[in-house]
Amino acid sequence: MTQIRTAAEIELIRKSNLLVSETLAEMAKWIKPGVTTEQLDKIAEEFIRDAGGIPGFLGYQGYPKTLCTSVNSQVVHGIPSALALKEGDIISIDCGAILNEYYGDSAYTFAVGEIKPEVKRLLETTRESLFKGIEAAVAGNRIGDIGFAIQSYCEERGYSVVRELVGHGLGTKLHEAPEVPNYGRKGRGPKLQEGMVICIEPMINMGRKSIIQEADGWTIRTSDNKPSAHFELAIAIQKEEADVLSTFEYIEKELKNIE
Ligand code: MF3
Ligand code: CO
Repeated sequence: MTQIRTAAEIELIRKSNLLVSETLAEMAKWIKPGVTTEQLDKIAEEFIRDAGGIPGFLGYQGYPKTLCTSVNSQVVHGIPSALALKEGDIISIDCGAILNEYYGDSAYTFAVGEIKPEVKRLLETTRESLFKGIEAAVAGNRIGDIGFAIQSYCEERGYSVVRELVGHGLGTKLHEAPEVPNYGRKGRGPKLQEGMVICIEPMINMGRKSIIQEADGWTIRTSDNKPSAHFELAIAIQKEEADVLSTFEYIEKELKNIE
């Protein structure tokens, strides 16, 4: 069942999400050639605990780490390891945290040093498609309107949308109803109501849409091994434009400082 949250609950969910946004901004400082995804994971776990939070993914269905770190052709759910980042890589960092029993959940795909222009365009398009989805996420519209906005934006630019993994409701559980696909048809699916809190998280591939699961039982990668990008924000549905509960502002301010 889809939860409708009170204004007070939404403020708590915002706090959890802003902690995740701050954690991702901390990651921006450390992402460079040579750093391992395991090191990033340790820093993120400490950052969340220092703020009084609990890592939201750790132990979720047996997941072993704080972050999902998905590099290049990995789409999502990459497990932090001794793998060192190198110049030209992209890395999706997906992070969850619990504060006051409410979850935050957000993801950002970072460039490691200089990346190819065509990969940069994939990142920009995926990020922008998330905001197109958010624009469609107003009370009275339907879930399919969000997916349609994302899918049409990305496909018009030559990219493909992963079908098997979707966004979700967010609150006292990491994954609540409804499912929020990144593809769809206008006017289809459950109606969006004021007070619903959802995560929108386009996973967009440069090549074909098909994915496979790696042997570790978690990591999802593109079947053609071409790059994939992933951006995620949590929003509360309102009558007019959505209230965005997580933010990329902290991350992008860090990235500007580093430039
Ligand atoms: N952020 C991912 C999502 O939005 C959750 C991954 S949690 C994991 O669905 F523990 F399964 F990795
Ligand atoms: Co999510």
